[in-house]
Amino acid sequence: MAEEIRIGILGAGKIARTMARTLQGMREAARQGTAPEGACVPVLWAVAARDLGRAQAFQEEFGFARAYGSYEELARDEETQLVYIATPHSHHYAHMKLCIRHGKHVLCEKAFTANAAQAREVLELAEGAGLLATEAMWTRYMPARRMLDEILASGIIGRPFCLTANLSYDIDEVERLAEPALAGGALLDVGIYPISFALMAFGSDIARIVSGAQLTDKGVDGQDSITFQYRDGRQALLYSSMYCRSDRQGTIAGEKGYLIVKNINNPQRITVYDTDDREIARYDVPTQITGYEYEVYAAMEAVSQGKKECPQMPHAETLQVMELLDSLRREWGVVYPFERS
Ligand SMILES: NC(=O)c1ccc[n+]([C@@H]2O[C@H](COP(=O)([O-])OP(=O)(O)OC[C@H]3O[C@@H](n4cnc5c(N)ncnc54)[C@H](OP(=O)(O)O)[C@@H]3O)[C@@H](O)[C@H]2O)c1
Repeated sequence: MAEEIRIGILGAGKIARTMARTLQGMREAARQGTAPEGACVPVLWAVAARDLGRAQAFQEEFGFARAYGSYEELARDEETQLVYIATPHSHHYAHMKLCIRHGKHVLCEKAFTANAAQAREVLELAEGAGLLATEAMWTRYMPARRMLDEILASGIIGRPFCLTANLSYDIDEVERLAEPALAGGALLDVGIYPISFALMAFGSDIARIVSGAQLTDKGVDGQDSITFQYRDGRQALLYSSMYCRSDRQGTIAGEKGYLIVKNINNPQRITVYDTDDREIARYDVPTQITGYEYEVYAAMEAVSQGKKECPQMPHAETLQVMELLDSLRREWGVVYPFERS
């Protein structure tokens, strides 16, 4: 009999709905025997919104056992084990601290916090309490990550030299993106994906970063271009924007060929070409529920095994990303109102 983990969702917005569908799909997979062998099974236990009516509507729609009209009540629920934090970046810090102080493990949406100082404090708090705190940067947990590692290690494209990655959507009107008080801007929302893609494929031995951003009237970054110059000479060219939909591709070029990752936000396929542009290999990712199941399986496994971090997204890497985001914002002069002393 597989172990069950009772999940709470904090915040009943857009991604929370996708997560609820994911949890339903994971239970269905367990029933049908298609879940990964030995995997824990999530229980749709509780949902909290700032408004009880909205929480109850969410509860009814997705079949949660309990609904709360405040985040505090969810944090106090003695039976909830793992809380998925689905609020804007600006609030992750306070909401994770609330849950950890009440003894809850947390799986928190990206960007993990608004800045590195907040991340450090949350991680220290969780470590001190012996609880799991992990960043729901879904691409870190997906099978495509391992596939890409294996393709690069196989030597099929030879020694890699250059990486490009972009992620952009037309989302500048979304309040969460537009508002400095919600830690808006492209970087923490979409820019984090190309950055993560580069860190996963090329690592973090970066000698120099060259970047530029176009700021909005409200002072957050609307679109960003970032180049990582690696110590060994490799380069990663990264682009993100909140004004338009881009092709979302990631490419890596080496001496014997190149590969294209279709949609770095949720990789579907990796295609490899030789230096004459002939397709020489194609790898499709396994059928997924939504793609968010992998981070949930990893978090539940960590909870079950008493671990405080997931190997797919160790605390050190969450901190490294937050420090990188801080340094880019410093260069561009993007300061959130709650960071001003
Ligand atoms: N991994 C991914 O692929 C992915 C995709 C989309 C978003 N995300 C991340 O998920 C998080 C939420 O994004 P979303 O698109 O779901 O946002 P959203 O639809 O705006 O929902 C955010 C929720 O946060 C709660 N909230 C608490 N305080 C708030 C405040 N002051 N202003 C606005 N909302 C507040 C609200 O919940 P209640 O009113 O219901 O309590 C709201 O429904 C972000 O960190 C984002 O980066 C990740």
